[in-house]
Amino acid sequence: MEFDLFILNGVVVLENEVGEFDIAIKDEKIAKVVPRGGLEGMVTKKTIDAQNGCVMPGGIDSHVHLNEPFIMAGGRCADDYESGTRSAIAGGTTTIISFAPQSKNEPSLLAALKETHELADSNCYSDYSFHALCTSAGPLAISEFPALRAAGISSLKFFMAFEDLQLHDDEILDVLLAARRNQMTLLVHAENGQVISWMTKQLEKEGLFDPKWHISSHPPVAETEAASRAIALAGFIDVPILIVHVSQPAVAETIRAAKKLGLPIFAETCPQYLFLTRDDLDKPGFEGAKCVCSPPPRNASDHEGIWRGLEDGTLTVFSSDHCPFVYEDENGGKKSSISKEYPNGRFQYIPNGCPGVETRLALAFSAKRLKLQKFVEVSATYAAKMYGLYPQKGALIPGKSDADVTIWYPEDESFTLSNKMLHHNVDYTPYEGQTLNQWPRYTILRGKVVWDRDAGGVVGNKGYGKFLERGVSSLAAPLRPEHDWNARDF
Ligand code: URP
Ligand code: ZN
Ligand code: ZN
Ligand code: ZN
Repeated sequence: MEFDLFILNGVVVLENEVGEFDIAIKDEKIAKVVPRGGLEGMVTKKTIDAQNGCVMPGGIDSHVHLNEPFIMAGGRCADDYESGTRSAIAGGTTTIISFAPQSKNEPSLLAALKETHELADSNCYSDYSFHALCTSAGPLAISEFPALRAAGISSLKFFMAFEDLQLHDDEILDVLLAARRNQMTLLVHAENGQVISWMTKQLEKEGLFDPKWHISSHPPVAETEAASRAIALAGFIDVPILIVHVSQPAVAETIRAAKKLGLPIFAETCPQYLFLTRDDLDKPGFEGAKCVCSPPPRNASDHEGIWRGLEDGTLTVFSSDHCPFVYEDENGGKKSSISKEYPNGRFQYIPNGCPGVETRLALAFSAKRLKLQKFVEVSATYAAKMYGLYPQKGALIPGKSDADVTIWYPEDESFTLSNKMLHHNVDYTPYEGQTLNQWPRYTILRGKVVWDRDAGGVVGNKGYGKFLERGVSSLAAPLRPEHDWNARDF
């Protein structure tokens, strides 16, 4: 038999061990993982010498916004499926999960899914799937959960903040119950929208409009209160939830306590909460708008607690929350909040979000803070398990896993990160000037090299990326799945 590709001489990160293994790939799948030298005498079309570099499953970024309308600024995300997934593979990510956003005047989640397929299909460099994004939980949306499952969508995000997007507690309960009945995983944006609106009014009354006041308008209590409420409501319905973009150790602590009680509560964090601080918003003029996201970056002293949350399993998933807006754009970009009256903008109208799909893995890998296997778990394996993609994705299991592989350089070589290196459609990176010592050398998607840093850069093709139908989570399940939730029981 002739194989398609050998990856030799790497230090390979497997689920149970890290060691010197060689990998054979055939028909888009991992065919063999054998101790170094074990493929000698076998035939292959192509060989990559990993030269003792680290070899791991391709990154999975399960929180990415592409080509979504952005209500606050009246614009759209700067990246579409083409530029966003190009940026993903250049940063070592082979699968993204983005959102199929329900629109205000179209209550159907299935209509949103159809529209999002049209935006993505034949445009992607990476494999992809969608979370349903529910901003209005009326009877039609709720009735569509079974059809979403049939269409391969097994997760749904809702907001507890932002006037035009948030669900109220009664709608949240409807969504929790429907998710339980249809074995869907819920992603929760846990910030208290009314606390944020109230604080925004207080600040504006005092004449405080600059970008840095965005932080004060999203005080820690908005996040801690909403996270606790989400956990309480999820416990009431007995349905697993994943709290997205956790920014504070205090929230991690609440999640840790829920887990100790055995509750199926999961959480995610993002690079903004490990590598940015409130000082990044406190810059002269409008510059701080580049780092406006929600929840906002917190204090440098909070980073340690977030790393610890990843290390001890409190925070399950490390994703980017890539939500890109062009800085120099007055029509829908960051600068759309600037006017004659407000030369430094008005924080409440700055589009929320930072680009990061390409820099996520390199930032965390360069930080060398997590053990190799933990790094792979939080940046790939657990997302695959959480969202029903495992073991096709997030692992290197012969015969089962797609041949999605990220290969790093053997030795550290420090360099300064600059937006010029990146492949997104954004005119800045919040991480400009950071010193990194690692960048993916090769990204391989289903056996095909799609990123070769030393020879050609992005060498994959738009349209090679495939839609992934997802099944039930293998991490998250109700405590008592056999029990049919019934209001009469209380
Ligand atoms: O600021 C953020 N996080 N923007 C993206 C939307 C969201 O809440 O994930
Ligand atoms: Zn209501
Ligand atoms: Zn969110
Ligand atoms: Zn997001």
